[in-house]
Formats: sequence, C-alpha cells, structure tokens
Amino acid sequence: MNRKYRRPLIAGNWKMNKTPSETRAYMTRLRELLPKGRGCDVAICLPAVCIPAAVRTLRETRVCIGAENCNANPAGAYTGEISASMLVDASCKYVILGHSERRAMGETDRDVRNKLQAVLDAGMTPIVCCGESLEQREVGVTEEWISMQLKYALQGLDDRSVRKLVIAYEPIWAIGTGRTATPEQAEAVCAHIRTLIRKLYDARTARATVILYGGSMNEKNARELLMQPDIDGGLIGGASLVPEKLIQIVETATAIE
Ligand code: 13P
Repeated sequence: MNRKYRRPLIAGNWKMNKTPSETRAYMTRLRELLPKGRGCDVAICLPAVCIPAAVRTLRETRVCIGAENCNANPAGAYTGEISASMLVDASCKYVILGHSERRAMGETDRDVRNKLQAVLDAGMTPIVCCGESLEQREVGVTEEWISMQLKYALQGLDDRSVRKLVIAYEPIWAIGTGRTATPEQAEAVCAHIRTLIRKLYDARTARATVILYGGSMNEKNARELLMQPDIDGGLIGGASLVPEKLIQIVETATAIE
C-alpha cells in the first residue's frame, strides 16, 4: 500500500452466507472488536436481506455497508432484482460488481459496465472485480485478460469517475481454494492494473485508484500481501465471516506504514 496517495480498504464479501439474525450477532461482536485507529477504511458487503440488520447494529461506527450486486436499470419489471437507488436508500456505500462467481452465472462485461454507471450515478462506490482462470494464467494471458475486462468495464468513463472506483484483482484459482496468490504474483497484476489506468487516463488517476487483492486472503497472509506497493487492501470472503479474523486483518492493514 502507499498511504501517501491512497487510503487502504479492507472489505468483506459474505457471498451467500449468514441470515439477518446471524448478521446482528456478528455485527455486535465486530463493534466490540473494532480498533479505534482510523488507519484504514472498513466495509462489509453482504446479502441484501442482511443490510438493515447490519446498518442498525453498526450505527455510529465507521464500518460501511455494501451490496454484492445490483441491477443496472433504475426501476421496473425486473422480478427479483435490486436497484442502485434502493441500495442507497438502505444506506449502502459500496457495491461489488463483476465478481467471478456472478460472471460464472452469466454476467457479461457489458452488464458490469452498465451496473457500474448505475452505481456511480447513485453516488456509491463500485468495487469492480477482475481476475483470470488457472488455465489463462498457465497459458500466459493473465495481463491481456485483465486489461480486456477493465477496458470493457471502464469504457467511456472519464478520469473523475475512475478516481471514485475501487478495483479488485481476484484470481479465480485463488478464490475459496486456500491457494493464495504469492505477494509477487498479486503485486505484478495490481501494478499492471495501475499501469493500464495510467495509459488509459493519466498518472494522477492511476495514483488515486484503490486496488484490492482478493483470493484466500486471511489474517495470516494479509501482511505480506498488503506490504506490496500496489495492493491497497483486500476483498475477503471466507475470513470475513469470522469477526475476529476480519478485525485482525484490519489491525494488520492499520499497522502498515
Ligand atoms: P475467499 O477469501 O473466500 O477466497 O473469497 C475471495 C472473494 O471471492 C472475495 O470476493
């Protein structure tokens, strides 16, 4: 991380885990454990039905709440979907977009671009995910693939909008597998993403963009990942389900100069 230009962010992604009752218990414990120091931003992205319980329990803390998806349309006949304005009204600040698990369910680059605009227009912060499969890594096309995903996602966005984004690099082979990318592998791709932003926009925008690593990050490996200059935080799945583990990662991020 580089505190001179960017504020670190530790974000949890609960995926399809925990009920509203479990959310209350988790957030009560998180409140007790939350360090006073404000050395890094903290967000938890969780299932839509859990958002009200999380917001209520975390009132007057610095933890922000986020969603795991949203629809690109403002309103209408989209049974089962949730709009960006609904999430804002429910007090969400972040929305994860283009997670590989959603892409595997059919979400396209165009969907990600449209959702990104809806989230920005609503005044929230999109966390845009990208990442390669194991096969793509082995063939040697990781950087091209990441560039393609991000060029689609950012298509037509101006530099001011891009400075509001968070980008999460999540190699698919590292998600939920316990097989974390090495700090060198993760740094190489996060640095590539920053270079791409510099080429597409300018140095100021590249310096300001918060880039997270996600994929089996936990309280044990967080430090060496977060020590890398282009990794500004983590998007954490499994380890974010246990408040003690998430807080340990927050403390680790806070302690890095
Ligand atoms: P894990 O931390 O469980 O590997 O999940 C990472 C992830 O997909 C976060 O979005």
